[in-house]
Amino acid sequence: MQKPTRHIFVCSSSRPNGQQKGFCHSKEGVDVMMKFMEGIEERGIGGEIFLSNTGCFGICEKGPIVVVYPENVWYGSVTPSDVEEILDSHIEGGTIVERLVI
Ligand code: FES
Repeated sequence: MQKPTRHIFVCSSSRPNGQQKGFCHSKEGVDVMMKFMEGIEERGIGGEIFLSNTGCFGICEKGPIVVVYPENVWYGSVTPSDVEEILDSHIEGGTIVERLVI
């Protein structure tokens, strides 16, 4: 099994019953997730960068939330238009996008 160099978690307010309801879902969390999926696919980095859709992190007021490991960086109020910058700067460049850090 190949282990990822980074793992990106995107809150889309997923729930165990399969429903997606909640703050991050209502604030484009699903669109953020889709932008990450597209960006990772376009860059051909899916083998090293894992992406997971998650449930609530408990800080909804700062959502949509994106968490990147192993750095343990938490981004808040992420919009679909922020995704390219996170991929360019942090994921591929190694420089955290400080303006989005919470
Ligand atoms: S629904 Fe995303 S942090 Fe609560």
